[in-house]
Amino acid sequence: MKILVVGGGGREHAIVWRLSRDGEGHSIFCAPGNAGIAGIATCVPVGAEDVDGIVKWARDNRPDLVVVGPEAPLVKGLVDELLSIGVPTFGPVAAGARIEGSKRFAKEIMQAAGVPTGRAEVFTDPVAAKAALAGFGLPVVIKADGLAAGKGVVVAETVEQAEAAIDDMLVANKFGSAGAEVLVEEFLDGEECSILAMTDGETAVLLPSSQDHKRIFDGDKGPNTGGMGAYSPAPVVTEAMLPEIRERIIMPVVRELKRRGTAYRGILYAGLMVTPEGGKVALSGSKVNVVEFNARFGDPETEAVLPRLGGSFATALLHAATGCLKDEDIVVKPGTAATVIVASGGYPGSYAKGKEISGLSDAEATGATVFHCGTKADGEKVVTSGGRVLSVTGEGATLREAVDRAYAAVGRISFDGMFYRRDIAHRAFERG
Ligand code: AMP
Ligand code: GLY
Repeated sequence: MKILVVGGGGREHAIVWRLSRDGEGHSIFCAPGNAGIAGIATCVPVGAEDVDGIVKWARDNRPDLVVVGPEAPLVKGLVDELLSIGVPTFGPVAAGARIEGSKRFAKEIMQAAGVPTGRAEVFTDPVAAKAALAGFGLPVVIKADGLAAGKGVVVAETVEQAEAAIDDMLVANKFGSAGAEVLVEEFLDGEECSILAMTDGETAVLLPSSQDHKRIFDGDKGPNTGGMGAYSPAPVVTEAMLPEIRERIIMPVVRELKRRGTAYRGILYAGLMVTPEGGKVALSGSKVNVVEFNARFGDPETEAVLPRLGGSFATALLHAATGCLKDEDIVVKPGTAATVIVASGGYPGSYAKGKEISGLSDAEATGATVFHCGTKADGEKVVTSGGRVLSVTGEGATLREAVDRAYAAVGRISFDGMFYRRDIAHRAFERG
């Protein structure tokens, strides 16, 4: 198959890598790709958000399939454009991507479909929003409606913090139009996990569960990041919970979107909160509640989940894109995988770029897989070009083995200011 992958981070490297391992001789292109992707695919110098540029490339090159990685081009309607010129595309149309692009819309869909989630109210008026706080208790969660690069959510421990967050969004316009509406939301107690469901708009197949680590420092301390590591499976999700997650969360959303005229084809990513034994049960009465939906593969979850898939990945993606997905399209191999993000010192704040990375082939020689997130080729050298630089994935029969393999490989890599968490998968290990 001739396939174009849109994007240029660790997630897209993992998608390209997994496609290359189908062993079906695909010809793979990636726009814009990165220094790692360039080793296994042809990079196309078109930005992931350049909708016109990508549509032109697709018109000229007629790929059999386009796979869209990041949310921004989905929300901008890239898939709508590609479908209109007859190119099969994996990823939802703009009307479906709203489930990630607008938290208000996501709540509306969940309410209409009876999906368990935190109770929420939507406000444009700061006075009304503050008046509503009393009805929610503490902690309480304040969210900007739109895409705010992961920064539009405040878990407030005090009324003062909640009021300040409301003022930031509705009065100071800190997030621009993304914060023109805010949600005041019930705090959900528990442990988070990610369920990536592949859907063709009619049916859905769950990929293996995973958990990411959003905070920058060990012990889940410090500011939120795009994700500092991930592992799969996540033991907080038991096998017994999976059918219920499919029937009570994923399928009702797919059906509700279809009822509204949207065939949602791609990944529906459910960020879930699982309430522990003895934890505070949510008003929904369910132990598993939706924190958020994303309209795409998670990053870094993808780097831990895709190595666990067998079979033909391209066939699964094409079947989802063309409305004929089957359970058998997703083959899960036994074992586990863990991913450690190697970041630039200072991230998620400001950080230096252009630092030479050494030890990449040594790291791969350990048997781990090194996915590039923010790198650039500079002559013969590979240099840093982002906050998250590399995603290093180890696989193993047990999670301990996978984590040890990932860290053994990370130990061979170095660059000026390199930083990574040392406790990936700690929640799984704490369970014993
Ligand atoms: P979101 O962008 O909606 O995923 O929110 C970012 C993070 O905020 C989540 O990963 C959670 O850790 C936290 N969060 C969001 N909503 C809630 C909630 N209702 N209760 C507890 N934590 C939440
Ligand atoms: N790892 C979180 C996300 O992809 O949104």
